This record gives sequence, structure tokens and C-alpha cells, in this order.
Amino acid sequence: MPEHNSSQSVIQKFIDVNGAENGALLPLLHAIQDTFDYIPKSAVTLISKALSLSEAEVHGVITYYHYFRYEAPGRHIVQICRAESCQACGSDELLAVAQDILGCSLHQKSRSGLITLEPVYCLGLCASSPAIQVDNKLHARVSIETLKGVLVDLEASA
Ligand code: FES
Repeated sequence: MPEHNSSQSVIQKFIDVNGAENGALLPLLHAIQDTFDYIPKSAVTLISKALSLSEAEVHGVITYYHYFRYEAPGRHIVQICRAESCQACGSDELLAVAQDILGCSLHQKSRSGLITLEPVYCLGLCASSPAIQVDNKLHARVSIETLKGVLVDLEASA
């Protein structure tokens, strides 16, 4: 969703409902990202004013959590688990293959713009590592061949 006045009014409504309470920052950010799929830059100013925080503090929280993003994602989001169990079972290789096929790094979109590649830190499938999540679907014991197939299918689904 493009950033414009209507997005600011939606953000302001979230702030009006939750904004003044202690601990409102994370719920606000989640509500905003759940609505727009990303955090519009204008949200930082609106939130900082409402919660009496500096813009740097709000920005710091957004960039600390890998879950939040400033840019609209591609149509599909591929998350590769970067936590310990999956790293021990080959997620570094999966990431390298994904970056090669998609032509992008983590937190970026593929050459086609269709796929956003993101890290995730444990999907709860440690016993079946390495794991990935494609949109809302979990994949366990992912081989390089499986990952290649998933990515090629996603790119072809355009
Ligand atoms: S470490 Fe990857 S699913 Fe838990």
C-alpha cells in the first residue's frame, strides 16, 4: 500500500486507540505492519510524538526486530531460519543458494521484485532443521533441491 495521507490517518487511528499507554510501541508497530505489510516512514514521526519518544528511539526498535520492515515486500516472503539448530544443519548453504537464485541479499527483493528474502530466528521446527517459511507455510528438512524448486515455482507463479 503506498504511503499517503490515508495511511497516516490509519496510523493515527491506531495511535488514538493504543498510543498513550505504557508499552504501546510494539503493539502499535505490529498493528501497523499487519495492516500495511511494512512500517511507513511517516509512522515514526507520528509514534514518536504520541509516545514522547525520539524518532531515533522508534527507528531503533524497528530496526532491532528483524520482523519489522520499512519497505513494502514482494508478493511472496521467503524466510530462512538463521537460528542455531538450522545453522548447524545447513541454513547457511540454503541462504547462499537463495541469494544466488533471487539475486538479492537478506531484507531485499528478488530481481523480479516478486520475492522478499528475510531471516527468521527459529520457526519451532528445530528437530526438523533446516526450516524455512514461505508466506505462511512452514517447510522442514529443506534440502537445496527443495529450496530451488520452491523459489523457481514462486517466480513462475507471477
Ligand atoms: S533453529 Fe530453525 S526452526 Fe528452530
